[in-house]
This record gives sequence, C-alpha cells and structure tokens, in this order.
Amino acid sequence: MRASMTGLMPVLSFPSMGLRIVRVADPVELGRIAADLVVETLGARGSAAFVAATGATPMPVYADLAARARDGSFDASTLRAFQLDEYVGISRTDRRSLTAWFDRSVAAPLGIDDERAVRFDGMADLVEGCRRYDAVAAGGLDLAILGLGPNGHLGFNEPPTGPRAPTRVVHLTPASVRSNARYWGSEDDVPRRAITAGMAQLLSAGRVLLLVTGPHKRDILDAVLHGPVSDDVPASHLRRHPDVVVIADVAALPP
Ligand code: F6R
Repeated sequence: MRASMTGLMPVLSFPSMGLRIVRVADPVELGRIAADLVVETLGARGSAAFVAATGATPMPVYADLAARARDGSFDASTLRAFQLDEYVGISRTDRRSLTAWFDRSVAAPLGIDDERAVRFDGMADLVEGCRRYDAVAAGGLDLAILGLGPNGHLGFNEPPTGPRAPTRVVHLTPASVRSNARYWGSEDDVPRRAITAGMAQLLSAGRVLLLVTGPHKRDILDAVLHGPVSDDVPASHLRRHPDVVVIADVAALPP
C-alpha cells in the first residue's frame, strides 16, 4: 500500500500543528513510506527542488526511489537536488566525501545530471560556495530529506543553532565527530570542519521529511518532539514549521 498525506499510516500524534509522526517497523518500511511521500511531494512537479541528506538513515529511501526510477514509475531526471553538507578540505574524489556519497546514492541512481545538482566543494572558496548555495536555494526548496544527529543537528547545524542561521562553515561538536567516526575509521580521521546548508534554508523548504532509526536516536528524538523548542536542539525548530513528517522506526520511537 502506498502512503499519501491523506492515507498515511499510522500517524501517531501532533506535537505541533504542522508536524506528523509516522512509526514504522524498520528501515525497509521507512524507505517505502518515505519514498511514497517523496514521489507525492515532487513527482507531479517536473522542476521541483529537494535537499538530500547523506548518512545511513535515508539510504533505504534513495534505494526505493532508484528502483522506481529504473522501472519507470518515478522520473527524477528533471528535479533539482541539493547536497546537504560537506566536510572542509576533502575532495569529491575521496569516496568518504559527502559529495561522493550524494553522487552515488542520489544523483547517479536518480539520473540527476550536473546541471541540476547543487553541490558543495570542500576544497574551493568556502564563503563563495555558501553564498552561491543560498542564492540558488532562494529560488525555492520543495522538500528537505533529513536525518537526525545524535546532538539534534540537521545537516551540520550543530547546537546551538538558531532558525535563521545561513549556509556556512561550522566546527563539528565532539558528538558529531564520534558519530561520524564509523564512516572514517576513527575519530582522529574525521574532519573537524564542514559546510552545511543553513537552518534558514532547511526551514524554508515546503515540506521536511525527518527520518530517524535506531535505539541510539531515541532520547534525542524525544527531545526534538517533546522538549523545549531551543537552539540547543536545532531540530526542535521543526516544530515551528508548517509541514513536517517525522518517520521513525520502533527502535527510535517505541510504542
Ligand atoms: C548527513 C547529515 C547528518 C546526518 C545525521 C544522521 O548529510 O548532514 O545530519 O543526517 O548525522 O546521520 P545517520 O543517518 O548516519 O545516523
């Protein structure tokens, strides 16, 4: 069964007017339901724009969308895809760069060519890269597909970050360094600076999809949904957004 905002199942609660929560059994179901929502949000709008997180959580969504692109049920080739963030000083030819990850999990499988992909370059003029990103994003973002950091970050909007923070260079907090060590081999190898799409840009998206899986995200998801809306938990600012769908598995959101 396909999900839609009219038939979405099972919506659990509404901690704020614009926020819906969907609990799923596991990452596979998360992938299917989130992909349904992506198609619903972007599918009928040929030139729609979306921000795509990397990290482990959204990978089942992109795999599901790629399968739909292959069987012809979803044409993403006219969409514009924005990378969410990148480490400073890492070349896109390094497969651990978020650009390389974005390319192999989003741009290539969905057939989004270079003209329609908005990327960061962690080796180039960073200030100019941020300025250019925000200029293009100002044309309108229809959807942001996001994961949740262990410290409540969205992208690399590390705590404390307010809702108006622009795209910029940031220093990673120890919590982000620790959680990204699995992608780098050790904490020492994780770059300490990154470029991130700003909170302002993410909150400007017409719809935000926040994807959360695993027991290690349980406490931070609880803080996002039920704690104070605070710069100390940047994702809590989503509660002031008019259209957010949180899709979480039972490990992150126990019954
Ligand atoms: C990824 C990103 C991060 C991750 C978050 C969760 O581009 O910007 O905010 O979405 O750290 O990471 P995973 O999904 O690996 O647990």
